[in-house]
Amino acid sequence: MTAHHRGTPIPDPKPRQSQRLTDNHGRPITYLRLAITDRCNLRCRYCMPTGGVDFVPHAEVLSFEELERLVRLLSALGVSKIRITGGEPFARRGCLPFMRRLRDIATVRSLHVTTNGVETGRHLDELAELGIAGINLSLDTLDRDRFKQITRRDQLQEVLATFKGCIERSLPLKINAVVLEDTTDKEILTLADLSRLHPLSMRFIEKMPFSGENCGRPRTTIPLRERLHALFPAMMPVVGAPSSTARLFAIPGFAGTIGLIEGNSRRFCATCNKIRITPTGMLKTCLYDNGVLDLKGMLRSGANDRDLTEAVQAVVACRYSDGLETEANCTRSIAPTMASIGG
Ligand code: GTP
Ligand code: 5AD
Ligand code: SF4
Repeated sequence: MTAHHRGTPIPDPKPRQSQRLTDNHGRPITYLRLAITDRCNLRCRYCMPTGGVDFVPHAEVLSFEELERLVRLLSALGVSKIRITGGEPFARRGCLPFMRRLRDIATVRSLHVTTNGVETGRHLDELAELGIAGINLSLDTLDRDRFKQITRRDQLQEVLATFKGCIERSLPLKINAVVLEDTTDKEILTLADLSRLHPLSMRFIEKMPFSGENCGRPRTTIPLRERLHALFPAMMPVVGAPSSTARLFAIPGFAGTIGLIEGNSRRFCATCNKIRITPTGMLKTCLYDNGVLDLKGMLRSGANDRDLTEAVQAVVACRYSDGLETEANCTRSIAPTMASIGG
């Protein structure tokens, strides 16, 4: 229906029920992960191969205008949560003005960012001013040498300054730590202490095979879930959003929560409400697919909004039921990097 204001028709910000994106398994699609660049100022081992990566040429990356057009279109179809990712989003010049433009779209209900925190510190006032709904900060260790070993860069200080800045401004904060084969219990306990002291969510993440290298079979380790239960026997489940990646736990005496993200085990696929757009404009309906729609190709060959909407609806109507099924059907010779997908 169209709302009227002084006789001028203005588009209704609420999508009609029939237009909302719902997949073939009845899952409403309400969350877009928008990777605005594949570039990054760190070189995390679980995300990029030893030999480094060739970043995509600028012309192959969607422009901010193209990205905004896609967000407007998708949010008119019911996508109300947008997460800006990368690579490192703040490694792309113009990230903040772009976020402000998205914030001003009436149908965008919440804007989030996932960042490594290296350059984020100097943007915190502006992020607070634009009403950022949440900052997910990647931080795998509090030890300088270990940080260097994991990220191949010596920039823990910068990340800690961003962390402190978020706390000082009471910005809604989640911390992401990927648990690696050699992550010790002591490291987990040290990180968890952050959520004892501060009202944040400290999320421990299963490592997934997206480092751009085919590293063979993962080494068998104790499941992360069992490990956390053993380390924090008093932790109690907290009821969260059904579509949440993280299962959250409260611990007596803790200001915040502990989270467990079992992405590799594909534990949250049944309620997955997400789609992704990669820096080169491929639409993904699962982290594990190879891209199901070339949005850049459509945008640059003059597709109109209706063409785009119908194409998106068509791919959403044939999603795999979960990431295991996707993986089984989408073979590839070289594992992609997380930086080229956006997490
Ligand atoms: P919230 O909106 O705060 O729940 O964030 P999020 O957990 O969706 O996003 P974030 O960027 O912080 O990612 C945390 C971890 O979850 C990363 O390792 C992501 O790769 C992983 N992740 C996010 N979505 C999916 C998904 O659909 N499938 C899998 N397997 N992993 C995912
Ligand atoms: N497995 C799991 N999580 C990963 N991330 C990057 N690479 C991997 C991986 N191989 C996480 C980052 C960031 C989020 C977007 O994805 O730590 O917080
Ligand atoms: Fe950069 Fe994130 Fe990849 Fe680390 S995980 S190299 S911070 S994109």
